Amino acid sequence: MEEKLMSLKNDAVSLILDASDEKTLEEIKLQFLGRSGRLTLTLKEITKVPLERRAEVGSLANEVKQSVEEAIERQKQILKHQTIKVRKQTLDVTNPGIKPPLGHLHLITQAMEEITSIFDKIGFTRVRYPEVEWDYYAFTALNFPENHPARDDWETFFTTEQTDSEKGQIILTPHTSSGQVREMERSVAKLRELARERSETGVDGSKDKLYSGPDLSIRMLNIAKCYRRQSDVSHTQMFHQFEGLCVGENISIVHLKGVLDYFVKSYFGENRTSRIRPYHFQFTEPSFEIDVTCGVCLGKGCKLCKAGWLEMGGAGMVHPNVLTYGGIDPKKYSGFAFGWGVERVLMMKEGIEIDDLRLLYSNKLEFLEQF
Ligand code: DAH
Repeated sequence: MEEKLMSLKNDAVSLILDASDEKTLEEIKLQFLGRSGRLTLTLKEITKVPLERRAEVGSLANEVKQSVEEAIERQKQILKHQTIKVRKQTLDVTNPGIKPPLGHLHLITQAMEEITSIFDKIGFTRVRYPEVEWDYYAFTALNFPENHPARDDWETFFTTEQTDSEKGQIILTPHTSSGQVREMERSVAKLRELARERSETGVDGSKDKLYSGPDLSIRMLNIAKCYRRQSDVSHTQMFHQFEGLCVGENISIVHLKGVLDYFVKSYFGENRTSRIRPYHFQFTEPSFEIDVTCGVCLGKGCKLCKAGWLEMGGAGMVHPNVLTYGGIDPKKYSGFAFGWGVERVLMMKEGIEIDDLRLLYSNKLEFLEQF
């Protein structure tokens, strides 16, 4: 049986190598692998092989079948290549070429890359936290009491009825602020680990105590998809936010304003300025809304912006309760945070006029190719 298989294989391969067109190859395929092909019929005889050798012969048979199939494919490719070559020779190489269509990154991806590189220059590192998140990180740890009406402002998607006793329900993250406490937990765990390795005294390794040891310094940039139950010309159910978090010793509003101005000038241009307006968020105290001067009238007031300013998003000093949830001692450390929409800042950029945000995700090339 083995000999028969090997000789079949040799026959097939030498015929395949001689084949000079696809039709002959198809005939050879039929001759060996067709329903009553030589190899097919031989394979059927395997039942006659004694049981103890059947597995071995069976696997050889499969190998043979596979190599015949592969040889046919290989020869097909070779033949195809040859035809291309022949065709190429008939081309007039002095004719101008055909420009292949060149794509580019999606507008939002471009914006995210630009934002990342602006913050990278001042030491903010991009991180990624889950899009499918626990209620705990999106709300509870951000100082939202259970059943607090402020939760409704986020129009959350709940995935299941399932509830964890500590972390609550599983949701689609409605904002990138959910990365704040995750980042704090990660930084504290790292510092405790380091202290343990160096067997430092004075730093309490236990998780129950708030971290008040040295060297805590967070500069996070969390850019991610967010989800809310909303859809109109200026909202989509899926959108992107970028969240900054800076925690350290003696961090104050001055730092927040400095970072804000730096971003506005780098992203929108030297001629734009920002202002902060008092507002309320559960997780920051004090909290602000950030406005940027309109790119068309530069703050004078026009049809587009009405009063000269466009709203960019929220910011504030991290609430002591949030630091506590993150395991950080608010008596020693303070911080600021901000969360702005990628789509929103993009639309506020000069020269980008998008009157319906949903167009960004419509996959219409006529739209995307304009940028
Ligand atoms: N997460 C808020 C939202 O989605 C925005 C925000 C406000 C983020 C204040 C912050 C902040 O970090 O400090 O509307």
